[in-house]
Amino acid sequence: MSNQSLEEVFQEFESLFASSEKLVRVVLSGRRRNMQTEHERIDLRPVLLKEVLHIQVAYSDGRAMTTKNFLPDKTPFSQYLRSGYANVLLEHTAGSMSLRITKKGEPLVHRTQEAKAQHLDHDRSKTRLLDPADPFLIAVGISDKEGVIKPSKADKYRQVEEFLRLLVPTLNAAISAGHIPSPTTSNPLTIVDLGCGHAYLTFAAHQYLRKQGIPVSVTGIDVRTDSRDRNNEIAQKLGIAKSIEFRAEEIADTQVKSAHVAIALHACDTATDDAIAWCINSGAQLALIAPCCHHDVQAQMHEIPEPWSMLTRHGIMKERLGDLLTDALRMQIMKLRGYRVEAIEFVGGEHTPRNLMIRAVKTGAAPDAAEQKRYDEMIALWKVKPALASLINH
Ligand SMILES: C[S@@+](CC[C@H](N)C(=O)[O-])C[C@H]1O[C@@H](n2cnc3c(N)ncnc32)[C@H](O)[C@@H]1O
Repeated sequence: MSNQSLEEVFQEFESLFASSEKLVRVVLSGRRRNMQTEHERIDLRPVLLKEVLHIQVAYSDGRAMTTKNFLPDKTPFSQYLRSGYANVLLEHTAGSMSLRITKKGEPLVHRTQEAKAQHLDHDRSKTRLLDPADPFLIAVGISDKEGVIKPSKADKYRQVEEFLRLLVPTLNAAISAGHIPSPTTSNPLTIVDLGCGHAYLTFAAHQYLRKQGIPVSVTGIDVRTDSRDRNNEIAQKLGIAKSIEFRAEEIADTQVKSAHVAIALHACDTATDDAIAWCINSGAQLALIAPCCHHDVQAQMHEIPEPWSMLTRHGIMKERLGDLLTDALRMQIMKLRGYRVEAIEFVGGEHTPRNLMIRAVKTGAAPDAAEQKRYDEMIALWKVKPALASLINH
């Protein structure tokens, strides 16, 4: 137990925090008994923005994180300290001080002495794939003019990074296995983004792969002409219009005939089926498909095979089962058309909480009779006809 009162401990934290030139980081987490905190956790660290020391504050709420930068003396640290967090850790260049406030409201303090390095880079480039100050992130509106992620776009930025973390190893593996030819300047890797919207992920793939020295040619398709115009303008502004272009087309009618890699992220309902059908019909070697809303199969789930009514009598469960059935049938169709398929987790977007991604690599394996039988039995059992089945060329 500390000899100090809680208030004295807070004051010691404040004085350590005031020496911002020695500050490494502060973490506030957990909740004191009978107190509510606005955020699950707050992380503070010094960063240099245009050569001026700031305190970057990251507020975490489960999955979402937002950040804000303050001048050191304008940081509401005293307020955070007293706002109900049960644990505080402060690290400085000569050691650390940590506090746990017990259920009775008493402070338990622990101090260490050890040299710690201060990292003032604001982009945490070691853990991030994309520098927030990359001109493309500023151009698409994820970062502000100073190159700092906008709090309102922090989720999108994380989604973009997560997408790259999924794309890159899958792509490298497909190239090493010979499923995709090694890209060269005269034969670049071709990528099509079906339903690209604001093209955050389209530009990210282009910029990131190019930085890795991989020659790419990227096309974004979206039915909206305003998306096409905005995205082509950004490509012009960034001087990359030769290797990335946008078209206003329906996925089902696109003039793009083939690509090594197809992505379709949260394209609405059967637009996802159009995208998968495009992959199968054109022979795309790698497909990353994150479905959005699913109405097609759900709307056909009238005659429920028993004992499944145990689930389907509950609307929310019927909906989830419908989602799973739709995606399982989509994956099975791809499997029967020579793809190796996996369902992996991928964060939802602002348009959808759905967090499933279908990752498919074309291996050309011949269809397996047992798998065909499984598919036939499943659609017979549920009396459904998935939209995708009618879209693929036989
Ligand atoms: C939810 S947004 C997702 C945008 C982007 N892929 C992302 O993940 O940030 C879906 C986009 O798909 C487009 N879209 C929907 N149906 C389409 C279709 N049949 N053909 C082309 N684009 C379509 C919409 O215009 C919209 O921009």
